[in-house]
Amino acid sequence: MIMDGSKKVGTYVFLELFYLCFLVISICNVISDAACLESETQALLRFKQDLTTDSSDRLASWSSSGGNCCDWTGLVCDNVTDRVIELRLRNLHNPDDDTAVPGKPFERSRSSGRLVSLLDLKQLQYLDLSGNNFGGQIPGFLGSLHNLRYLNLSNSGFEGSIPPQLGNLTNLQYLDLHDILSSSLYKENLQWLANLTKLKFLDLSGITLSKASDWFEVTNALPSLIVLRLSNCDLDPVPVQALKNVNFSSLGTLDLSYNTFSNSVFSWIFTLTSLVSLDLGYNSFRGHLPGGLRNMTSLTYLSLSNNQFNSSIPDWLYGLNHLQYLNLNSNNLQGKISKDVGNLTSIISLSFADNNLRGAALESLRNLCSLITLDLSGIRLSQDISDVLESLSGCLSDRLESLFLVNCQLSGHLSNQLGQFKNLHDLYLTKNSISGPIPDSLRTLASLRQVDLSKNRFNGSFPEWLGQLRELEVLWIGENMLEGVVSEVHFSNITRLKLLQASGNPGLSLKVSPDWVPPFQLGAIALSTWNLGPRFPGWLRFQKDFMFLDISAAGIIDTIPDWFWNLSSQFFYMNLSHNQIRGKVAEIINTYPPAGYASSIDLSSNFLQGSLPCLPSNVGTLDLSNNSFSGSMSPLLCCKMEEPKSLGTLHLNDNYLSGPIPDCLMSWPNIFSMNLKNNNLSGSLPSSMGSLSFLQSLHLRKNNLSGVLPPSLQNCSLLLALDLGVLPPSLQDWREVVENHDCRSSFK
Ligand SMILES: *[C@@H]1O[C@H](CO)[C@@H](O)[C@H](O)[C@H]1NC(C)=O
Ligand SMILES: *[C@@H]1O[C@H](CO)[C@@H](O)[C@H](O)[C@H]1NC(C)=O
Ligand SMILES: *[C@@H]1O[C@H](CO)[C@@H](O)[C@H](O)[C@H]1NC(C)=O
Ligand SMILES: *[C@@H]1O[C@H](CO)[C@@H](O)[C@H](O)[C@H]1NC(C)=O
Ligand SMILES: *[C@@H]1O[C@H](CO)[C@@H](O)[C@H](O)[C@H]1NC(C)=O
Ligand SMILES: *[C@@H]1O[C@H](CO)[C@@H](O)[C@H](O)[C@H]1NC(C)=O
Ligand SMILES: *[C@@H]1O[C@H](CO)[C@@H](O)[C@H](O)[C@H]1NC(C)=O
Ligand SMILES: *[C@@H]1O[C@H](CO)[C@@H](O)[C@H](O)[C@H]1NC(C)=O
Ligand SMILES: *[C@@H]1O[C@H](CO)[C@@H](O)[C@H](O)[C@H]1NC(C)=O
Ligand SMILES: *[C@@H]1O[C@H](CO)[C@@H](O)[C@H](O)[C@H]1NC(C)=O
Ligand SMILES: *[C@@H]1O[C@H](CO)[C@@H](O)[C@H](O)[C@H]1NC(C)=O
Ligand SMILES: *[C@@H]1O[C@H](CO)[C@@H](O)[C@H](O)[C@H]1NC(C)=O
Repeated sequence: MIMDGSKKVGTYVFLELFYLCFLVISICNVISDAACLESETQALLRFKQDLTTDSSDRLASWSSSGGNCCDWTGLVCDNVTDRVIELRLRNLHNPDDDTAVPGKPFERSRSSGRLVSLLDLKQLQYLDLSGNNFGGQIPGFLGSLHNLRYLNLSNSGFEGSIPPQLGNLTNLQYLDLHDILSSSLYKENLQWLANLTKLKFLDLSGITLSKASDWFEVTNALPSLIVLRLSNCDLDPVPVQALKNVNFSSLGTLDLSYNTFSNSVFSWIFTLTSLVSLDLGYNSFRGHLPGGLRNMTSLTYLSLSNNQFNSSIPDWLYGLNHLQYLNLNSNNLQGKISKDVGNLTSIISLSFADNNLRGAALESLRNLCSLITLDLSGIRLSQDISDVLESLSGCLSDRLESLFLVNCQLSGHLSNQLGQFKNLHDLYLTKNSISGPIPDSLRTLASLRQVDLSKNRFNGSFPEWLGQLRELEVLWIGENMLEGVVSEVHFSNITRLKLLQASGNPGLSLKVSPDWVPPFQLGAIALSTWNLGPRFPGWLRFQKDFMFLDISAAGIIDTIPDWFWNLSSQFFYMNLSHNQIRGKVAEIINTYPPAGYASSIDLSSNFLQGSLPCLPSNVGTLDLSNNSFSGSMSPLLCCKMEEPKSLGTLHLNDNYLSGPIPDCLMSWPNIFSMNLKNNNLSGSLPSSMGSLSFLQSLHLRKNNLSGVLPPSLQNCSLLLALDLGVLPPSLQDWREVVENHDCRSSFK
């Protein structure tokens, strides 16, 4: 058992160990490495081979020369039998990372491939493959791994329905299948769960269960169930006869968020009085906050957010004094937050945002000494910000990490009371009318990570001490009235800054030396209306990770440097419009919009020249209008035609484009707004124009277009604005088509 090929152990030492082992078997277990079975080693190597992507190379230690497989990453062997009992191959990134940081770390770390070799690891008790991307159906053979106690396939890209063989895993205690299926629906019933009587944790969130009308009956009968998460499952409301037999004898956590439940389910939910966690957010509840909650005195977590509750907030709610987390966001709650809110002495996170509330007994909050997050956004406090901070300063202000007072009708100056909130990480004060300077007290808040002071009336200078906030990651100060010169010093020590949104402060100018190397790598840069010119900002050369860049209307009078087009292959928003930028536009190789979005490129109102660029397929908006581009439209429209294009908005007006509109529009089926006016385009409209079936707005005036109307254009069902200017005679019949088919009436 202690023979280990990877270790060079002298005979003497070996004998000593052997002797010890003989004496105390447990000591042997401590000092020896387990050695796994050859058959399991082979199975694992085959499993690795079957994985088609592993960009992070997590399995580097898995190799035939890698010694004992029990030492390989992600594996745990039983310390007596040496059999592999745990396989932990979770993607360590989170899907949200992909919208927060460049480079799509989650997507890049997803492995895919076949799982069949796992069949030879019969002793597996723990299998975590979450966050990978296997595709296809969940293999039914997983149901023969009878020893499994923990199975986590969440977010791992399977599709189709769940194989009933999983119902053979009668030792399962944890089954997490949330967000597992990429597209297809789960159609059948949940009978297969019935024999999993040891199940403590079940998460089927994100799986469509609209046809599984037995969901209540089956889960209700699972005797050990402690956590049940059925968020976003398109669940049927519960059949009334089921309500007589509400059981859920062990249930502590119930998550039914993102379904379409209405108040009728309250009658059974509120019999579960030992629940500690209840999430009913994003449903269709309405009317009064339900009185049944009064009996739920064990609750520590309660979310009722994003429903249509419209009563005032009853005082008894604050009697649920075990609550640590309360979220009432985005309802239509009325009235004021009463002083009894101060009875929530265990509360850690308290959110009332986006209701119809008109005030709060702020002094009662100051004694909530455990509070870490407070969100009062949207409450019409109608006060001076310094009074609000004064009211909140107590033991609350020592502990609080996140304070949200967005859109609270706050005015006055941001005072030095802010300095008492020593642990503040996140401060959101956007959309108020706070005026005066950004106070010095902010500089003492060394933990600040996210600050949003945008859309207020701050004036004075951009504070020089900003560079001392070493933890700062996100700074929004756009749309204020700040003035003056900003230099290297202002940014000297903020190495962690990822987002700088300061657009809409026309009084600010950035004066840095031409070879300034910023200490940060920004993902988002927005300095629209600043004075960044006249030279093109050379420091951008070092911002290789930006996803969002807005330096529009920034007084740049310069030629665009060649390196600019090589800068970021990861952006999804680029706005250089309204400057006096000269030069040519290179082919734009790659843009990376977050999933479900398309990229925007706005280079309009400059002096750019040369031919049009070729575009990647995921650009949604291209505005090159009001420049000096010349030549044919072909380099843009007929480039890489085999790729399906997302482009919806194409504005090329006010340039010097010439020649006919090329017959390549069949590659651009998503265009809904096209503006080509004021160029030198000639010839007839191409027949592929008829592929633009989403077209709502088309501007062609001030060109030399002629020829015959393409018959396909009669399909103009969405066309809203048609601007042809003075129609040449040959296009008269088009006008008739347009007028006869009242395009507007069919547009909703
Ligand atoms: C062996 O594993 C069991 C549970 O798997 C554990 O309780 C025990 O402490 C382990 N013994 C040693 C020597 O590691
Ligand atoms: C399953 O894995 C995901 C991360 O991939 C994790 O968030 C979740 O908590 C895990 N489920 C269980 C029951 O441990
Ligand atoms: C597992 O379950 C399926 C369907 O529920 C059943 O047909 C099969 O016999 C079971 N297999 C084993 C090995 O228990
Ligand atoms: C549950 O187990 C029993 C007995 O082992 C078996 O007869 C039954 O078919 C199983 N039910 C399901 C749904 O697998
Ligand atoms: C309720 O739970 C008990 C014990 O776990 C079980 O015997 C009974 O069948 C369950 N009732 C229903 C209606 O599921
Ligand atoms: C609240 O909603 C209920 C049901 O939707 C409605 O009947 C009632 O008039 C509303 N009350 C208020 C104060 O808006
Ligand atoms: C709360 O519980 C008590 C006693 O268990 C019961 O009489 C009452 O009806 C419950 N209240 C509500 C609103 O469900
Ligand atoms: C809040 O606490 C006060 C003082 O202890 C008490 O009088 C009041 O009834 C409590 N309110 C609620 C809703 O429990
Ligand atoms: C800020 O605005 C106020 C008026 O709202 C004005 O009195 C003050 O001088 C301004 N401060 C600066 C530095 O411009
Ligand atoms: C930046 O940090 C350095 C070293 O910690 C310090 O000497 C310098 O004063 C800081 N700069 C600013 C503007 O705070
Ligand atoms: C930009 O990238 C291209 C292709 O990788 C390379 O040929 C060119 O030299 C680069 N230009 C600059 C200015 O770095
Ligand atoms: C680019 O910036 C200009 C001026 O700041 C703005 O009007 C325009 O809408 C922006 N373009 C896009 C595509 O957002």
